[in-house]
Amino acid sequence: MISDTNSTTGIGYGKVILLGEHAVVFGHPAVAAGLDATVRAHACPGRGDLSAPAWQLEARVGDDSLPGQAIARLLDRLGAKHDAFDFWLEANVPSRAGLGSSAAMAVAVARAVAASSGADEPSVLEAVAAAESVFHRTPSGIDAAAASRGCVGRYDKQGGWRDIAAASPFELCVGISGKLHDTGVLVARVKALCDETPGARKLIDTLGDLARMGAEAVATGDTAALAHLFNLAHGLLFGIGVSCRELDDMVYTAREAGAAGAKLTGAGGGGAVIAIAGDHGEEVLRRWRAKGHYGFTTTIGHA
Ligand code: MEV
Repeated sequence: MISDTNSTTGIGYGKVILLGEHAVVFGHPAVAAGLDATVRAHACPGRGDLSAPAWQLEARVGDDSLPGQAIARLLDRLGAKHDAFDFWLEANVPSRAGLGSSAAMAVAVARAVAASSGADEPSVLEAVAAAESVFHRTPSGIDAAAASRGCVGRYDKQGGWRDIAAASPFELCVGISGKLHDTGVLVARVKALCDETPGARKLIDTLGDLARMGAEAVATGDTAALAHLFNLAHGLLFGIGVSCRELDDMVYTAREAGAAGAKLTGAGGGGAVIAIAGDHGEEVLRRWRAKGHYGFTTTIGHA
């Protein structure tokens, strides 16, 4: 643990995508929300060690691990030497669960470095984008934007992030499948599908439309409409081939437990699902747990 008086800290937020994943890569909007789960990075003068005990991660900036490569690229962008700092990460975002842990880590580290170098927030975001390209090849940027903002918002590649003032906060169940996935591979697979199959591109465009409606539903506090959009979106995400048996089972389990809407969140192929379940939230978590899946509830749209 770092306890140097010269240490600086930075924070990044985990995220869930409510609607618009994959469509956002094609230029459509998506709606995402930051989680209370965060990564806090402590940086102090050192020799490039990177340690995240919660993730059993011990790496060195520039080594051949993905975090080592990503943080090297991030430091290059910020004009810092690879061996200038040691980083110690307090992480309570589950890693590789579809909840944006890599973006939360990159934002936290970049902010910790910026706190000592004076880099501004646009430079921080540029450095985070460079780190994210190591993990996810050609990301849309939504994970980085959500990890830096920590609230609910709408994002598209042209306009960037815009906070949404939610009319009323609502509770969301988040369930982790435990199945690992590779976002870059899934994004590439969807692109190949759309190149080969014009019908698939129509599904992407409809996912974008659902996200536009979802942004409106969040802004007006229409949770029933949002839940309905979740169900429609899950069907389309299944259609473009990014769901899997585990995610479908968790979605059906949530609906059978009384959730009004449930869908996969993020890249799919594993990772996480989300559900709007109102008073049935505890029952959803209990049924997921009975099938071996960890879940939690989070409030979306609080100030
Ligand atoms: C991953 O959290 C979201 C995707 O849309 C990829 C991206 O936007 O970079 C699947």
